[in-house]
Amino acid sequence: MAKTLVITIQTILATGCFYLVIELFTKDSDIPFTHILVSAFVIVISVTPLKVIMKKIFSYFYPGSQDVFTSLYAFDERLEREKSMMLEEMAPVLAHEIKNPLGSIKGAAQYLATEIENEENRQILNVIIEETDRLNGVMSQFLNYAKPFRYEKKVQKIEPILDKVFSLVKARQIMDKVTIEKDIQENLPTVKMDSEKIMQVILNIVFNAIEAMPDGGKLTLGARKVEKENNEGIEIIVRDTGKGIAKEDIKNIFKPFYTSKERGVGLGLAICNRIVRNHGGTITVKSNLGRGSTFKIRLEN
Ligand SMILES: Nc1ncnc2c1ncn2[C@@H]1O[C@H](COP(=O)(O)OP(=O)(O)O)[C@@H](O)[C@H]1O
Ligand SMILES: [Mg+2]
Repeated sequence: MAKTLVITIQTILATGCFYLVIELFTKDSDIPFTHILVSAFVIVISVTPLKVIMKKIFSYFYPGSQDVFTSLYAFDERLEREKSMMLEEMAPVLAHEIKNPLGSIKGAAQYLATEIENEENRQILNVIIEETDRLNGVMSQFLNYAKPFRYEKKVQKIEPILDKVFSLVKARQIMDKVTIEKDIQENLPTVKMDSEKIMQVILNIVFNAIEAMPDGGKLTLGARKVEKENNEGIEIIVRDTGKGIAKEDIKNIFKPFYTSKERGVGLGLAICNRIVRNHGGTITVKSNLGRGSTFKIRLEN
């Protein structure tokens, strides 16, 4: 549907361009409209095959040029597997090496804090204690990200998960300035999933959305049925009216440790992506800087 619309708009634009060129460069412009329309359509629909052919030719002569044509979102499964195997091995060692001294630093600072009388110095020690806690938290999240996840998938409905997310968000009372709305289609198909993990994904995305609206706004939690080649599935939609994401940042938000927040860790979306991929699903983002973002999670059967 979206593709048809894009092709139609491109054809109309191309037709317009043709007319402009003809007007500018020829004296008698009596070429029939249908000829121009058909030419525009042919050019528009051949752009994609043209790109594929160009890619083949270029990468034959210059194997290094592959990257130029590969989308930034392209995902190299083998590389990702190797990376996660390396992480699995390295993470516990690294965490151990960092967490232990952190514990000692915190203990020493806590001891000094009880001994010290000067208020200014006590506050400095408190900074050390708070920051060690933060670093400890980062390390725990990193460990959580690196370890292999165990999934317990079963065929089930998404509605109870969405209800839970909805009440959790309401219960946390962070909704002072943010209004939350539900937009859930009826009779959604069931999907095979690990409900805990999918709830974690939705919560991560929902909390990011709330954090993107410090001055208030509207959060919409939606779900609808999707169909693709006789395959039924669901799409969960989290929409906010927050700050939005700049075009050049979108490609980074799923990378581990990418964060724009002063106190962020940058693992939330990396974990979401990993869980959804494990379910054979996808997460997509559309964002308008200053207007808001829409995250869509697709899960198919
Ligand atoms: N709804 C959103 N609106 C604007 N920016 C977002 C949104 N969701 C994610 N982001 C961007 O993606 C980054 C990574 O998110 P995440 O992985 O959850 O890490 P963290 O929340 O710790 O920063 C965020 O720091 C933010 O820049
Ligand atoms: Mg986050």
